[in-house]
Amino acid sequence: MEKTFLMLKPDAVQRKMIGRLVQRFEDKGFELLGAKLTRMTMKQAEIHYAEHAGKPFYGELIDFITSGPVFAMVWQGEQAIAMSRTMMGKTNPLEAAPGTIRGDYATDKGLNVIHGSDSPESAEREIANMFEPGELLPSGPPIASRSNGLHIDASGN
Ligand code: GTP
Ligand code: MG
Repeated sequence: MEKTFLMLKPDAVQRKMIGRLVQRFEDKGFELLGAKLTRMTMKQAEIHYAEHAGKPFYGELIDFITSGPVFAMVWQGEQAIAMSRTMMGKTNPLEAAPGTIRGDYATDKGLNVIHGSDSPESAEREIANMFEPGELLPSGPPIASRSNGLHIDASGN
């Protein structure tokens, strides 16, 4: 079971799109392991976008991602990384197919609604950058099939 880090960017939160975007991933069959509304610190933004440091749009990217709250999420599912990127659509909204998130909701390359990890290594790094381990359900078998659902025992631990 693969884990991915998805993040609704400040434009999506400001446009009140959290519910309908979360719905798409639930409908697809992924399982949510954790989520929070938070504002990225400058340090978190620099770690998150380290691969883009030095590019012409880097300053704009950091300014935008720290400009308001984001909705950070960890999801699990079969091939969750590749499948969620297919659902997101191409980075450039001009190339993003209708039916994808960016194809349906974005017109700007910077304000493109959602981030999704591009590899298992990125997912690990991006999750650790935004969540404490205790904020996430353990990944593993589908939650519905677990005997005690959320892995919380009768004593509350
Ligand atoms: P993320 O899931 O956000 O990482 O998008 P991606 O993997 O599809 O694209 P990539 O990692 O190459 O770029 C990261 C983000 O930088 C993109 O989502 C855009 O928001 C932004 N970005 C990339 N290229 C440009 C550009 O040419 N101009 C601007 N303004 N932003 C860009
Ligand atoms: Mg990327």
